[in-house]
Amino acid sequence: MPKEDIAWYEKEEVKNLFIKASSNAMRGYHCVIAAPKLTFTGTNSLIDFINYLGVYLADDERRVLLVVDKDLRKLGDMVAEKLLAMKQIHSRIFDHVLPDPPKPTIMEGVALCNEFKPRLIIGIGGGSALDTMKMIFVLYEMPNIDLNAVMAASWLGLRKKVKAIAAIPTTSGTGSETTFIAVMTDTDRDPPRKTAVVCYELAPDFAVLNPDFVKSMPPSLVLGTGFDALAHAAGSYMLTMSHDFTDMAMLKAVEMILKWLPRSLKYVKDMEAKEKMQMAAFIAGVGFGNVSGGIEHGIGHSLGALFHVHHGVCVGVYLPAAIAFQAKVTNRFIPLAQLFGVLVDGKSREAILKELLVALLQFMEATGFPVGIQGITNRAITREEYLEKIDTLVELSENDFTTLSAARRVDRSQYRRIALAAYDNKVDGLMELYHT
Ligand SMILES: [Fe+2]
Repeated sequence: MPKEDIAWYEKEEVKNLFIKASSNAMRGYHCVIAAPKLTFTGTNSLIDFINYLGVYLADDERRVLLVVDKDLRKLGDMVAEKLLAMKQIHSRIFDHVLPDPPKPTIMEGVALCNEFKPRLIIGIGGGSALDTMKMIFVLYEMPNIDLNAVMAASWLGLRKKVKAIAAIPTTSGTGSETTFIAVMTDTDRDPPRKTAVVCYELAPDFAVLNPDFVKSMPPSLVLGTGFDALAHAAGSYMLTMSHDFTDMAMLKAVEMILKWLPRSLKYVKDMEAKEKMQMAAFIAGVGFGNVSGGIEHGIGHSLGALFHVHHGVCVGVYLPAAIAFQAKVTNRFIPLAQLFGVLVDGKSREAILKELLVALLQFMEATGFPVGIQGITNRAITREEYLEKIDTLVELSENDFTTLSAARRVDRSQYRRIALAAYDNKVDGLMELYHT
């Protein structure tokens, strides 16, 4: 069979199939729930984890690859020292992690694995480090794999060379410590393109949620990653592919983020708030990771690619439009409205949606989050510049893997409407997405 040069989720027939598969008639046909086997939480979690590794790894298996970026090298060194001192586990540190991990960087990590033969790979960091860890793992295990053809339901038989993978997040948002997705920049494609690899076997075996690892996040990162978590929870709750298990996680995560994100921003040293946000992001990850990112992620990924804005900011600014657009075909916005304090009894769908949008926009404003594309400050995007690139924005969005899971079929013209409404996120403009 000829090797595919586009990813499976970019094919028209797959897009048509998925919108049917997410309807109620097909729900329950196929569902695997993946999450780490063990998640260590709290301030003693790193010690707990290493104590466990002492019995998990046999004497001839005590080799660990630690994947970090250069800024977090010190954390990598600290973990390596503890592994050796406590349980005589030897480490190599791969600290070449880059944002939007390019394939050549991942192959450097694979080369290190071929030499060192680790039995465990641990990623320490934000989304890029954990993505890099997962991609090194899959390409070390199966060097000749065609990643464009790997689907969630593909069973690859990984964990032949490596016994397990583990994630220690240093931000509270991506949920990558529990999800089975990894994104890399495929430099084999012309032009290079972000490729998402979704496969149940990429879910980390172990996660370590240690609040000490997130305590030094600057407020801008707390805000960006906090809204990433909110988009995971609320954005994916809107998808009709969601099911009872993921609903449970996503609603709890929204409730926690609304309560704890403002405190986490206001009091830099509030460890209770940091710990709660770390848990909320993990819970949101368990929820959305077992469904899909929503369309705010589809278009948010594209905005990030074009304007290099932080991922959490990109997906957060499109969240109101994504909710309004899909509310036309699903009532799933109503429980979200209740979490935002909207009283729903006796009100029309339209009134409930409007109040939800107002509350969400107020939450964005109150936390200092940009209320629309026009409010992004660290990379100002003028309306002219935005309109100039809107064709590319909608084209990239249409081929994003999250587009498959939309509750309401979204093509280029619909993405264009969403893009235009989100520039300033005026309530009337957002309600237009619901009405037509
Ligand atoms: Fe995200």
